[in-house]
Amino acid sequence: MRTPFVAANWKMHKTVAEATAYAAAFRARMETIRAAEVVVAPPFTALHAVAAALDGSPVGVAGQNLHSAPQGAYTGEVSAGMLREAGAGYVIIGHSERRQLFGETDAGVNAKLHAALGAGLVPIVCVGETLDERDSGRMFQVLNRQIAGGLADVELEAAGSVVVAYEPVWAIGTGRNALPAQAQEAHAHIRQRIARALDADGAAACRIIYGGSVKPANAGALAAEPDVDGALVGGAGLDPDSFAEIVAQNAAAAV
Ligand code: PGA
Repeated sequence: MRTPFVAANWKMHKTVAEATAYAAAFRARMETIRAAEVVVAPPFTALHAVAAALDGSPVGVAGQNLHSAPQGAYTGEVSAGMLREAGAGYVIIGHSERRQLFGETDAGVNAKLHAALGAGLVPIVCVGETLDERDSGRMFQVLNRQIAGGLADVELEAAGSVVVAYEPVWAIGTGRNALPAQAQEAHAHIRQRIARALDADGAAACRIIYGGSVKPANAGALAAEPDVDGALVGGAGLDPDSFAEIVAQNAAAAV
């Protein structure tokens, strides 16, 4: 049985004051949730303050990106060790906005994944096709490339700690979520490809979470699918009450 994994990606939202107010409200809502692993991903500027505000609670903190080098002359970048020291236990890697707007490649995702694992961060690796790729019948090919390239050379012992987020680009921020059956089809395929890249036990242990317009109204139906192990939430994760509701539905689906 895989523990559901639910993360809120705040993207470029929330000042330190807004982020710590959220953390205080949200940790109170999470006191009774035991059946899910829950994470929020603030912008870098608020990471340390949010980690401090959530200290001692079951809610973890993630970076939204990292650089693959441990340090160096990389203006504007942040390393895995810096994220750890600021209080993060997790990091999102290869989000479609990073791929589309900032030119990230599968090789770059893989380098970041190894840097994250090396520093003891749990990586949340994002994959997913565009609408054009889906409509032209290339969805599986794109997912295969992203999984093989992004997860290359992962040690088997690390496989269970890797979280993969299936985020179809056409569903992100559009209000048009994948139907539960579409998510299940993609997740089952991704699990098969992880089995090929690693091995069957690694693939069975790996949490594959869905992202793209997850809301309280659709979270339960998505979480009910057998290969959907949680959610990566953007817009609806900006409000502590709606994110808490999504967490509760994922936790309920696991029991
Ligand atoms: P959304 O974003 O929930 O606002 O669609 C999801 C994501 O980008 O992770």
